[in-house]
Amino acid sequence: MVHSSSAIGGETSFRCIECGISPATATFRCAACGGLLELAYHERKIDPDSLKAVWRERRASNLAIDQSGVWRFRELLPPLADGDVITLREGNTPVYELPQCARRAGVEHLYAKHQGMNPTGSFKDTGMTVAASSARSREFQWVGCASTGNTSASMAAYAARGAMRSLVLIPEGKVAWGKLSQALDYGALTCQLKTDFDGCLRVLNEVVQRMPVYLLNSVNPFRIEGQKTAAIELLEQFDWHVPDHVIVPGGNLGNSSALGKAFLEMKELGFVSRLPKISIIQAAGANALVRTMRETGGTRLISVQAETAASAIRIGNPASWKKAVRVLQQTGGTVEQVSEVEIALAKAEIGADGIGCEPASAVTLAGLKKLVQQGFVKAKENIVLILTGHLLKDPEFTLKFHRGELFSETEVLAARRAPIALDATADAVIRTLKEHQNQS
Ligand code: F0G
Repeated sequence: MVHSSSAIGGETSFRCIECGISPATATFRCAACGGLLELAYHERKIDPDSLKAVWRERRASNLAIDQSGVWRFRELLPPLADGDVITLREGNTPVYELPQCARRAGVEHLYAKHQGMNPTGSFKDTGMTVAASSARSREFQWVGCASTGNTSASMAAYAARGAMRSLVLIPEGKVAWGKLSQALDYGALTCQLKTDFDGCLRVLNEVVQRMPVYLLNSVNPFRIEGQKTAAIELLEQFDWHVPDHVIVPGGNLGNSSALGKAFLEMKELGFVSRLPKISIIQAAGANALVRTMRETGGTRLISVQAETAASAIRIGNPASWKKAVRVLQQTGGTVEQVSEVEIALAKAEIGADGIGCEPASAVTLAGLKKLVQQGFVKAKENIVLILTGHLLKDPEFTLKFHRGELFSETEVLAARRAPIALDATADAVIRTLKEHQNQS
């Protein structure tokens, strides 16, 4: 493998989304007004056509930073010495067509960009490679996050690869086993706190102000920059045709903010001439953004006491809500909420298309069905669901659903596929096979 040590990426500085002033605190808030920060690029001289060709050529390269589906787009990322890049060859995630799900939602074509196909099984890796690399370039020995599970798994992996220690704060009893086991295996110092995600984030904010621990939650603008690349890669996979709708789950609202920033930048830089509508779907039990939009028009956050079996998005006080509101307004997207049964059913339907995802990702299909019924999404439009996490992240939910331990509502019965206990004979198996031959 070839190494070089040149600087990559474009010159950037922090900018407060509220007041425009930039000095950052350890919690990545504006030192003047406490607002969220974003990275602003200085004078990017970019020729879209030649960059499209360069990005495509890099797919045949053996350089680690070219093989990464994030750093392949480094001209649109913050600067770093390439020796500082920590990469697990993240990104490069597939777009799948979902024919059965399309029929159920009442649309002609439906696509899923499966971010669960990242190295640690969630979209977090695309942001983590940039933010963890930034921590290493700043010579931090410790990185930390509060998490509903996926951020911790991703951070722990990238910290380990970058020879840093990692501190994970998770809500006790509310993190799926797949995710917790990853954090432990990758060597994180994992603390289960008797609180929810929002409480963990509050504690972590205090810890990073008192100790030299680099905050890796999605308020860290470097996370957002990396997560932008999913949108760039998606456009490339669509041969630079812009989909009409991109539908994304909403938790702490970093991902919707990142995808929105990416599409806006791509339009501003001349890669595309229009924007997709970005719509954000939440679990009805964790619907802070939905209530914020409906009850205040996006002017004031309505926090909620979050409760949902889609534990990844069990968040009541989303940190990046203002960025997400901006994305909804700039792209003309909308918000919707879905019930626990609707989430479980949608998850089984995505599974039945041979793809699968974790519960939080399935809110996208459940939400799409509602948006089609409302006429916000039309049957002939191009729609992309962002699937954020892998099916195997939360096998307990899947097993309980199929065994009938979660819901008894009639609409889920047909989607259930419980294991069948049989005598160990070919006769028993063949009898069962025949019984099922005429079922779909
Ligand atoms: N889907 C999955 C699978 C997630 O893990 C998350 C967030 C989201 C959607 C929501 O994304 O927060 O950017 O709006 N998980 C975080 C975590 C909070 O700690 O892993 P968001």
